[in-house]
Amino acid sequence: MAATRVPEVAETPASEIDATMRRLHAGQVAWDDTPLTERAAVLLRAADRLEAELPAWCGLLVKEAHKTLGDCVAELREAVDFCRYYALQARDTLGPRELPGPTGESNTLHLHGRGVFVCISPWNFPLAIFAGQVVAALVAGNSVAAKPAEQTPAVAQRFVGLLHAAGVPQDALTLLHGPGETVGAALVAHPLTAGVCFTGSTPVAKHIQRALAAKDGAIVPLIAETGGLNAMVVDSSALPEQVADAVVQSAFRSAGQRCSALRLLCVHEGVADGVIAMIGGALQELAVGDPAEYATDVGPVIDAEAHAGITRQLERLDREATLLARRALPDGPAGAQHIAPCAYELARVADLRQEVFGPVLHVVRWGPGTAAHGGAADVEALVAQINALGYRLTLGVQTRIDSRAQRIAHAARVGNVYVNRNMIGAVVGVQPFGGEGLSGTGPKAGGPLYLYRFCAEQVVTVNT
Ligand code: SER
Repeated sequence: MAATRVPEVAETPASEIDATMRRLHAGQVAWDDTPLTERAAVLLRAADRLEAELPAWCGLLVKEAHKTLGDCVAELREAVDFCRYYALQARDTLGPRELPGPTGESNTLHLHGRGVFVCISPWNFPLAIFAGQVVAALVAGNSVAAKPAEQTPAVAQRFVGLLHAAGVPQDALTLLHGPGETVGAALVAHPLTAGVCFTGSTPVAKHIQRALAAKDGAIVPLIAETGGLNAMVVDSSALPEQVADAVVQSAFRSAGQRCSALRLLCVHEGVADGVIAMIGGALQELAVGDPAEYATDVGPVIDAEAHAGITRQLERLDREATLLARRALPDGPAGAQHIAPCAYELARVADLRQEVFGPVLHVVRWGPGTAAHGGAADVEALVAQINALGYRLTLGVQTRIDSRAQRIAHAARVGNVYVNRNMIGAVVGVQPFGGEGLSGTGPKAGGPLYLYRFCAEQVVTVNT
């Protein structure tokens, strides 16, 4: 690991953006005309190369994104899965389709790339989310202008090199580096942009949506996947050990830097004291430290700016909430950019007002005894309060009553419900991932409907 060097990556000069977009626009036609089987084969070759290079990818992900080794392997696996899943989906579902019609007429549905897709990706999954966006857009026949997060350019650069080596033409895929405010904004505003795929914060997604709406010319679609104020509902029948395990995984793994992460544990008042004590004990067992060490559970947050922002949010929680537990940080430099995993109690669900993108758990109690101070008297009221937060990404449910789990899943307005397990680490093709409302537009990444959103549709009707 020590030998891994993160290559320097230069920002793309503003003067290059227009020429790049014109080149990608011209290149898209030939790429869209490349047989679907060949476009899919490129993704399959890329998947094989990724898999073969696992140690090098882990080295780079640890160094550039401070991922723990467990998270590196899971992330590489997810990127491989995206390549294979979208390749097979494309082959199976994007070809021409004969439609029923009257005698003497043929009707055929054709799917094409839309043009140049701008893919803007985050630092928390610098390989998996970057790869998922880019290969989906490519296999659907688009050319791609990819703008990765400023914090993780080298991972993106290496993956784009791998795609070119696997057979993606230079004129079908270009990487542009730099801040969202300048390079990202110029790409979104460019007249040749035919679609935008964005993963990041809700305010930035809304900003992109407004910028697209303000442009002259075509109506440009946006696919956005954003954040969540994700809750876990624990009733009095739940198994405390299972709850503690699921909470620790969901709230603290990846240092809480996942949009799927648990932010708000809603625990029934009848079992709350025991469950909170068990979580407090489990939290003290977390190994916080160097992400390159096998034993580490929680590494540092991405950068000093994130550290400062979370620290400010913790100062507010120290004033407004009750600290339940906090893991001590290791001494010395290993603790420099770490946030101590911690849990705070809030009075009401509505007191959770903002996503803290770090290892910070909020807890509320619910049940008849909490109603006097705005708590939810029953599980229906609790789900209504959670829905009112407006984010619709993930929900955990812990109960041994099957019918209750079904009722909660039905009433909850979220994209992914996890019953009696942790609520992170959606598997491509198994748990298609993504939400609605403040959490994004859909479609779900890694799901059977994702690729269609990258396509333009044409029906050809012939009088035979
Ligand atoms: N897809 C990730 C997960 O499920 C979050 O981005 O944890």
